[in-house]
Amino acid sequence: MSAQATTYNYRVVRMFAIMSVVWGIVGMLVGVFIASQLAFPELNFGVPWLSFGRLRPLHTNAVIFAFGGCALMATSFHVVQRTSNVRLFGGRLADFVFWGYQLVIVLAAITLPMGFTQGKEYAELEWPIDLLLTVVWVAYAVVFFGTLAIRKVSHIYVANWFFGGFILTVALLHLVNSAAIPAGMWKSYSAYAGAADAMVQWWYGHNAVGFFLTAGFLGMMYYYVPKQAGRPVYSYRLSVVHFWALIFTYMWAGPHHLHYTALPDWTQSLGMVFSLILLAPSWGGMINGMMTLSGAWDKLRDDPILKFLVVSLSFYGMSTFEGPMMAIKTVNALSHYTDWTVGHVHSGALGWVGFISIGSLYYLIPRTFNRETMYSTRLINLHFWIATIGVVLYITSMWISGVMQGMMWRAINPDGTLVYTHIQSIAASKPLYIIRVLGGVMYLGGMIIMAYNVVRTIMAGKAVDAPIPELSYDAHH
Ligand code: HEM
Ligand code: HEM
Repeated sequence: MSAQATTYNYRVVRMFAIMSVVWGIVGMLVGVFIASQLAFPELNFGVPWLSFGRLRPLHTNAVIFAFGGCALMATSFHVVQRTSNVRLFGGRLADFVFWGYQLVIVLAAITLPMGFTQGKEYAELEWPIDLLLTVVWVAYAVVFFGTLAIRKVSHIYVANWFFGGFILTVALLHLVNSAAIPAGMWKSYSAYAGAADAMVQWWYGHNAVGFFLTAGFLGMMYYYVPKQAGRPVYSYRLSVVHFWALIFTYMWAGPHHLHYTALPDWTQSLGMVFSLILLAPSWGGMINGMMTLSGAWDKLRDDPILKFLVVSLSFYGMSTFEGPMMAIKTVNALSHYTDWTVGHVHSGALGWVGFISIGSLYYLIPRTFNRETMYSTRLINLHFWIATIGVVLYITSMWISGVMQGMMWRAINPDGTLVYTHIQSIAASKPLYIIRVLGGVMYLGGMIIMAYNVVRTIMAGKAVDAPIPELSYDAHH
């Protein structure tokens, strides 16, 4: 056995973990900026590449694919090694995944403000970048599944099922939805037309939620919650049912994004029904995570990392209750086009995706720098509270403005005319937009505190790769 194979590959884990924090700050800074533009449109400055329309996709790509993506890659590479009891498969291929993925992100950050876009939400990047991403993603899959293939432990721990499901499904979604005919270096036309294009796009879009923003993060839940709580997963059987039920159901829910459109009516109803069913596996998983804490609830009092992880599960439960409600056609008739959707998105994004990533990174970063804990636990606690207040301000302001907009738009005078003009609803939303900016600034502030804590941890620690134990404790879990 070579000297290398006696240690885990923590280098690539460290690199992805650090970049997750960096891209988190960048993406959220853009989020705060576009939130400010909605409250104060003068901030568009009449400059095309600073305009809301171009920066919004920059925000969504940066937070989902750069912040979330790097967190997913860091944690999946960490978990798959620890639970397989082997070093990452593929040697330098993992470095290629890192640098290739960073290149995709940088190209996105350049081309989106320039206005190059396919115009498909969350799949905006033009075809040359899509091709590069495909190569990087295949390499990611080879490293991940290769590691599973050479594992020293007979069974595959459930966290890896979720990471694996995420990697395979995202590959499929990307290939199908990005199919396009190039018409120049930075221009292409979708391979699909009309309603079929919309259907494919939201099959992709909703599964991006289900697999990019959920399945992989559930992988984090199944490893880091038991680790931090010092308890085994509440029910292993439930976790397997959770996995299959979730991946089966998510696939059908996409049309709830297209209620009352040109899509055939029956597909809309099908999407609605599957969205309602989706409540069950979502809550099954959430309860499995929560119950893992039974007997360890006292730890919540002074462990801010556990607070991040547990509160993320509450937000997961909340947004997966809200989602099915919004998928009901009559509710969607009110919520669609309003800020209610944006509130729902961010209770999932800031509360669930953000918090589970932050908690997992606080567990992982010190350990990959040869330390037990972060530089300062008090700063983690501060981060927790300011971020929590930030999320609450963000989502409550959007719920209020969303429902208000929906009500104002449908208010009708006895003679059948509209009670309010559209601009009146925008004016009424302005104070709530300012509160959202405040919430965003707090959440971003928390990330900056985290970055400081990470830098101090790295300075006090040492970048060493942990030895692979003969049969690690992790191997049994
Ligand atoms: C400081 C934190 C953040 C702020 C201030 C912020 C702000 C915003 C704003 C102003 C929009 C545009 C809303 C509109 O068009 O009306 C938006 C959209 C969006 N953001 Fe964020 N955001 C933040 C963090 C995040 C994070 C961490 C994620 C994901 C992990 C995320 C995911 C999204 C998504 C998916 C959309 C599109 C929503 C839709 O189309 O309905 N955001 N954000
Ligand atoms: C059972 C689970 C869920 C269901 C059934 C669901 C359902 C919905 C519905 C009905 C909409 C509004 C569609 C529209 O009117 O345009 C929506 C939007 C959205 N949801 Fe969820 N949701 C769920 C969970 C989540 C979670 C956990 C997240 C984030 C981590 C999330 C992220 C989003 C995003 C990003 C959008 C906005 C898409 C867009 O228009 O750009 N959802 N969801």
